[in-house]
Amino acid sequence: MTNQKTNPLRDPQDRRLPRVAGPCVLVIFGVTGDLSTKKLMPAVYDLANRGLLPPGFALVGFARRDWADQDFAKIVHDAVKQHARTPFREEAWAQLSEGIRFVSGQIGDDEAFARLKDTIADLDEARGTGGNHAFYLSIPPGLFEPVVTQLRQHGLADNHGDGRWNRVVIEKPFGHDLASAQELQRIVSQVFPSQSVFRIDHYLGKETVQNILALRFANQLFEPIWNNNYVDHVQITMAEDIGIGGRAGYYDGIGAARDVIQNHLLQLLALAAMEEPTSFDARQLRAEKLKVLEATMPPKRIDLHTARGRYLGGWAGGRQVKGYLDEDGIPQDSTTETYAAVRVDIQNRRWAGVPFYLRTGKRLARRVTEVALGLKRAPHLPFTDTQTEDLGANALVMRIQPDEGITLRFGAKVPGTQMEIREVSMDFAYGGSFTESSPEAYERLILDVLLGDPPLFPHHQEVERSWQILDPILDHWAETDATSRAEPGLDHYEPGSWGPKSADEMLARDGFTWRRP
Ligand code: BG6
Repeated sequence: MTNQKTNPLRDPQDRRLPRVAGPCVLVIFGVTGDLSTKKLMPAVYDLANRGLLPPGFALVGFARRDWADQDFAKIVHDAVKQHARTPFREEAWAQLSEGIRFVSGQIGDDEAFARLKDTIADLDEARGTGGNHAFYLSIPPGLFEPVVTQLRQHGLADNHGDGRWNRVVIEKPFGHDLASAQELQRIVSQVFPSQSVFRIDHYLGKETVQNILALRFANQLFEPIWNNNYVDHVQITMAEDIGIGGRAGYYDGIGAARDVIQNHLLQLLALAAMEEPTSFDARQLRAEKLKVLEATMPPKRIDLHTARGRYLGGWAGGRQVKGYLDEDGIPQDSTTETYAAVRVDIQNRRWAGVPFYLRTGKRLARRVTEVALGLKRAPHLPFTDTQTEDLGANALVMRIQPDEGITLRFGAKVPGTQMEIREVSMDFAYGGSFTESSPEAYERLILDVLLGDPPLFPHHQEVERSWQILDPILDHWAETDATSRAEPGLDHYEPGSWGPKSADEMLARDGFTWRRP
């Protein structure tokens, strides 16, 4: 580890971040993609700017473009200027840009990988990166296999056991279903040992997601009610107001359930529902997450306890927006859903009888992610002046984004002579309690990769289990699409709404309504 005192870029105000990466090279495959421009390159700069990367750190881009190092450096520069979280500082940029290289080539091209190997060897020599390399695969899943094979063939996947390391970072989706995830795992594990594989679920890098653990396990207050004695249902929502943008090639055929429920929402469920781990090291944390995912079951009546839809065109957010089928690159016979809601049940003592509802969608009313515990109604309510069904039904809401914090909803007396009760909120807001802004998820996760710190990366068993939960639902939907052409299971919804009617009906059947976050 680099001595922090010797790092001139370390922010002297930042006393809480003692973890600084050691010398290494980060190679990004897919540098021309959206993720790289909007998240990865800015996160690398933010880390450098916060003094969390060593002076010798190097960033290598690999793509088909015919760029020289300085062309790529310009791309990184522009991405940083536009998307970085922390202010642009010439000093930080100058240090980072010295280590920027570009290798032009196709993935199937052996010579390009030979050039990559030489570039990395030069950097190891010139910048003292000491044989430590992380390979970030921000590329379509179909390319994972050829890339890891090339890395192996060029000796870039070896782990010598002498402190030098080669690690691989794999973006989601990890597979398309259980079988393809297992096949991918087989290929990757032939090349990299499991401790060198970092599967990204960027939700785990969010501060507010980690705060679920703090809320539950750093306090005495909440855990006693965190079970089926007090909770009657849980709603986990990840809503976006944007459409698919220019991502038709990725999104169509994937859809909302694979894109978000299989990974982000089931990880949120795991953190919210798991037992207390013995510690937060990777083995303990993953073991508890896996245990609760193993107990999580898809609905028995998939037809009644799932809903899906896709957005129509219309007015949303004060402007005219296209419907999904009119987005560029979407085939007219597409059956991809842009909204999905599913009910799952956790079969263990803590959660038996408590349905968990997971929903996600694009072009919804607003961007919001939250985990909400709906509590059972108070057993007796001697308040004759208040006639509302919600009386006594409290809620605890973990607001993941954008308005990060926690809300407790409960009844309070309305001022006046009557004993009238109305719902009020007690709020904790990150912004109000802490002066530091939260790092971006990718800052945290890239740093953890470089440090070799795995707790925030799902183990492949979690990924597989998540597919096992989702696969029966996806199969049922595919079957419905194939057999009932006259009345497809895919519902529609207005842009800027809260999703299709079928999703409301799904909850109503169980006696609940969706929250309006
Ligand atoms: C990604 C999905 O994993 O998460 C995208 O592929 C989605 O479709 C994105 O837009 C949302 O991330 P965030 O951090 O903005 O909630």
